[in-house]
Amino acid sequence: MAGRLEGRSALVTGAGSGIGLATARRLAADGARVFTVDLKGEVDRLADVTAPGINAELVAAAVARHGGLDILVPCAGVSAFHPLEGHDDDYFDHVMAVNLTAVFRLIRDAVPALKQSPQGRIVTIGSTMARFGDAGLVAYGASKHAVLGMTRSVACELGPFGITANCLQPGAIETPMTEPAFTAMPEFRTYFEKKAALGRLGQPEDVADVIAFLCSDDARFMTGQGFFVDGGAMTRQ
Ligand SMILES: NC(=O)c1ccc[n+]([C@@H]2O[C@H](COP(=O)([O-])OP(=O)(O)OC[C@H]3O[C@@H](n4cnc5c(N)ncnc54)[C@H](O)[C@@H]3O)[C@@H](O)[C@H]2O)c1
Repeated sequence: MAGRLEGRSALVTGAGSGIGLATARRLAADGARVFTVDLKGEVDRLADVTAPGINAELVAAAVARHGGLDILVPCAGVSAFHPLEGHDDDYFDHVMAVNLTAVFRLIRDAVPALKQSPQGRIVTIGSTMARFGDAGLVAYGASKHAVLGMTRSVACELGPFGITANCLQPGAIETPMTEPAFTAMPEFRTYFEKKAALGRLGQPEDVADVIAFLCSDDARFMTGQGFFVDGGAMTRQ
C-alpha cells in the first residue's frame, strides 16, 4: 500500500537530532521525499539556518532535488536557561534568530514553491512555553510565543492557496536539547513526568507522528492552530 505522503516533497530543518530527526524519518516512512538540513548530523545539507540568504538556497536545493515542495517543517531550535539579570544581548538575539527569524525567512522563501503544491503544508514548532512562562527562559519563551502568533497569520495569508500552517507545541520531550538538564537535575525530570497526565516524558516520535498527520490529507481542514503534544501536561494546573 502506498504511504499517505507518497509523491510529496518535504524540507525539514533541525533534522540532525531529536524531534527533527524523528520527523524526517516519519515523513519518509509515509512515502515523502525529504530534504534534511542541520548544523550537524547525517543530513542532506549542513547549514546554519541563520546565515543570510541560506533559506532561499535551501528551498531551491529541495525543489531541485525533488522537483517541488509540499511540506515545510522548520524544526531547528535552541534553548538554554539564562537568568534575566546579566542576560546578554547576543544570546537573546541568537535565540530569536534561530527560533523565529529563520523560521519566518524559510516560510517566506518557500511560498512560491508551496503555492505550486496541491496540498501545501507548514508545521512550525512552538512549545507549551507559548502558553506559560518560566524563570530563566525569557528569550526562549518570547521566541515560541512569536512562532505561534506568526503561524496563525501565515495560515490566514496562505489559506487561499490551499496551504495549511499549524504550530506543534511539544511538552517535555527527551532529546539532546533537554537531556543535559534532566541528567543534571533529576528532580526536573520527575517534575515533568508528574505534570503529564500520562505520567512520562515524551519521545521525539510522539511529536513526529502528529507532525506527519498534520502534513497528511486527513488534516486538510485544520489550519492556524497550535496543538499541544504534551502527554496532558497542560491540562493539569
Ligand atoms: N525537547 C523538548 O522538550 C522541546 C519542547 C518544546 C519544543 N521543542 C522544540 O523542538 C525543536 C527541536 O528540538 P529538539 O528537542 O529536537 O532539540 P535538538 O537539540 O535535539 O534538535 C535541534 C536541532 O536544531 C539544530 N540547530 C540549532 N541551531 C541551528 C542552526 N542555526 N542551523 C541549523 N540547525 C540548527 C541543532 O543542531 C539540533 O540538531 C526546537 O524548536 C525546540 O525548541 C523541544
